[in-house]
Amino acid sequence: MAPLPVLVRDLDQLATPAGRESPLRGSSLGEVEVLEGAYVLCAGSEIAAVGRMRDLAPLADEVLEVDGRGRCAVPGLVDCHTHACFLGDRVDEFDLRSRGAGYEELHAAGGGILATVRATREGGEAALASAVRTHRRAMLRAGTTTFEAKSGYGLDRETELASLRAIRAAGGVPTWLGAHSVPPEFDDADQYLEFALREVLPDASAIAEAADVFVEQGAFAPRQARRYLRACRDAGLGLRLHGDQFTELGAVALAIELGARSIDHLEATGERGVMALAHAGVTAVLLPASALFLARPMPPARALVDAGAAVALATDLNPGSAFCESLPLVCSLACTQLRLSPGEALSACTVNAAHVLARAGRKGRLAPGFDADIVLLDAPDWRYLAYHLGGDVVSDVVLGGELVPATGPAATPA
Ligand code: NIG
Ligand code: FE
Repeated sequence: MAPLPVLVRDLDQLATPAGRESPLRGSSLGEVEVLEGAYVLCAGSEIAAVGRMRDLAPLADEVLEVDGRGRCAVPGLVDCHTHACFLGDRVDEFDLRSRGAGYEELHAAGGGILATVRATREGGEAALASAVRTHRRAMLRAGTTTFEAKSGYGLDRETELASLRAIRAAGGVPTWLGAHSVPPEFDDADQYLEFALREVLPDASAIAEAADVFVEQGAFAPRQARRYLRACRDAGLGLRLHGDQFTELGAVALAIELGARSIDHLEATGERGVMALAHAGVTAVLLPASALFLARPMPPARALVDAGAAVALATDLNPGSAFCESLPLVCSLACTQLRLSPGEALSACTVNAAHVLARAGRKGRLAPGFDADIVLLDAPDWRYLAYHLGGDVVSDVVLGGELVPATGPAATPA
C-alpha cells in the first residue's frame, strides 16, 4: 500500500530560496522567502502546496500529519561534492598533521590519496557499497537528501567501476574522478590517462553523470586535464574540476574554456580568477570544511558572490582533507569564515548545489512540483541551520514524500 501523503503543519517557519532562477547569483543568492505559521503538503514524492496555516483548505484525503510546532522547514540539502566511496581511514596522517606534517608532504611520500587507494582496492564491491551507505546515513541525519559522490580511490578499471556502481546503489549521483592521482603501477600521468580513457571511460560513462579531475602539482597539469575532460565530454559526461586548492595552475581558465559545470576548492584563487568566474557559467563550489581541516586559507567567497559568480557549498567528505558529512556545519563555516549570510549559505547548498548536479528543476526549493525533500529543524528560527555550530539541529527528514526519522538507524534509503 502506498504511504499516506505527508502534511507538515504548524511550522514556526518555512524558509526557501526566494528567486526562481538557477543558479542564484549576487544579491539574489541571499534572498530567502520565510513563511511564519506554515505548512507543506506532499502528494506522492512531490510537493503539492506550501503556505500559511490560515490558508490551508480542508483536505479531502487522509494524510500523515507531522507536528511542526517549535520547528522550521528548509529544503532538503544537496551535497554536490563528496568522496564518500572509500575504505580504510587516514587517522594516523591526521595525528601526524596535528603535529606539523604537511598534507602535500604526506601525499608526496606515498601516503595521502594513494594510501586510501591501497585500502579501497583491497575491499571489494560489497564493502564499498556498505561504506557509501554508512556515509549516506550520516549525511541524511544532517539533512542531506541528495548527494553526489566521486570514484577516484580505485584508479584501476575494476575498482573505479565498482565505486561508481556502489555510489549509484546507495542513491548517490556518481562522478567519475578517474584523474585523481597517478597510481603506482604507472610511470607518469600521460601513460595513466592513456589507460584510463581507453579502458575505463567507455564503461564509466554509462554509470557516471560527470567526470572530475584534480588539477594540481603532483596530480594532473592543465594540459593533461584538458585531454581527459575533452574525452569525457565527448562521452557525454558533465565536467567538474578540483582546481586552485594549493596552487593556481590555470584551472579556472580551463573550466571556462571547456564549459565545465563547476570548479571546486579555489582556496588559492586570486583576483583574476574571481573576475573570470564573475559572469561565467561555471559554478564555484566552495569547501570550507576542507580548508579548515587542512588549516589552509579559506576561498574568496565574499569576493566571488559580490562579483556575481555562481557559488555553491559542499562538504568534500573524504578521509584525508575533510572527514565531515555535515552541511549544517559547512553553513556555519560559511557564515563565520567565508562571510556569507545564512541566506546565502542556504541557497548555496540547495538551489545552487542542485544546479551543479543538473537537478535544479526538481531539487533545492520548497515549492509545488519540486521533489518532496524537506528538512525539519529542531529550532524556532531557520537560521539555526548555520547558527548552531556542530549542533544536533536536524530533527526529521522527508525524503521523496516519506518521513524518515533522521536520528534513528531506520534512516536508510534503498
Ligand atoms: O577534494 N584534492 C583532492 N581530493 C580530495 C582529497 C582527497 C584525499 O585526501 O583523500 C579533496 O580535498
Ligand atoms: Fe574533493
